[in-house]
Amino acid sequence: MTHAPRKIIIDTDPGQDDAVAILLALASPEDLTVLGITAVAGNVPLPLTAKNARIICELAGKPETLVFAGCDRPLKRKLVTAEHVHGKTGLDGPQLADPVMPLQAQHGVDFIIDTLRREPAHTVTLCPLGPLTNIAEAFRRAPDIVARVQQIVLMGGAYFEVGNITPAAEFNIYVDPEATEIVFRSGAPIVVMPLDVTHKALTTRARIEGFRAMGTEPGRMVAEWTDFFERFDMQKYGSEGAPLHDPCVIAYLIRPELFTGRHINVEIETQSELTLGMTVADWWGVTDRPANALFIGDLDAAGFYALLTERIARL
Ligand code: RIB
Ligand code: CA
Repeated sequence: MTHAPRKIIIDTDPGQDDAVAILLALASPEDLTVLGITAVAGNVPLPLTAKNARIICELAGKPETLVFAGCDRPLKRKLVTAEHVHGKTGLDGPQLADPVMPLQAQHGVDFIIDTLRREPAHTVTLCPLGPLTNIAEAFRRAPDIVARVQQIVLMGGAYFEVGNITPAAEFNIYVDPEATEIVFRSGAPIVVMPLDVTHKALTTRARIEGFRAMGTEPGRMVAEWTDFFERFDMQKYGSEGAPLHDPCVIAYLIRPELFTGRHINVEIETQSELTLGMTVADWWGVTDRPANALFIGDLDAAGFYALLTERIARL
């Protein structure tokens, strides 16, 4: 029995790994209908994430995709960016031409609100791949949309893997902890792809050469993005390759059976300077705090890369 494609909004701060996630989504029309892509400030400032999102859509051959600019800074804090990981453009690695396709005039937060109000309840999934500012702002401005969300599948947080931007916090959460708290306390059904699982989705030389060997522009770009992106993690963790964080979100929507996790309580540190942005995940059930998220801890990495390779090769 074939299912209708899931309707999704991708909220993103491209970022090389965001780019691979967006390519995977746009290469999978039988599974996913991308209603729109909303850019948020994160890895690099908003003008660049809004530009990069369009570069990626054109690379996928989907210039008709609706791309919106959302919030240019966190709800309450100064923006923290990650050029040290992603480079000055956010998509360092290959040389990229400026996009031709337009940026939509509507603000990304208004697009999220209008779409959730227009589409039938529980038929739209939100896929945040960066700081949760746009999602939280939409929930704040229009609390009525929270009950209409089908699911939120996000990349962010860490428990056993601890932090990657501070000893305690993962980057997406650290940039806007207040926004994250609003989302995790909203009551919307949440699936979390933390570093615990994304650090098991490592690129390898063979996997990257598999993308390059496709002989396509998207395949070459993915290889050159991961060549650039992996140097930071390999230097820091001594790992063989780079964790492809954000594509885990999209792969979960297409093949959830590749992932395993626990439905647990996750709280966000928003006060302490020492542990700001930490996702306090009650993995062992030592509190009576209500479960509010499916926290993913593991994946079938071979199956994940097989899916990624098969789909990217279509573009
Ligand atoms: O910590 C990894 C996350 O931060 C990924 O989403 C990456 O793109 C950056 O946004
Ligand atoms: Ca990201």
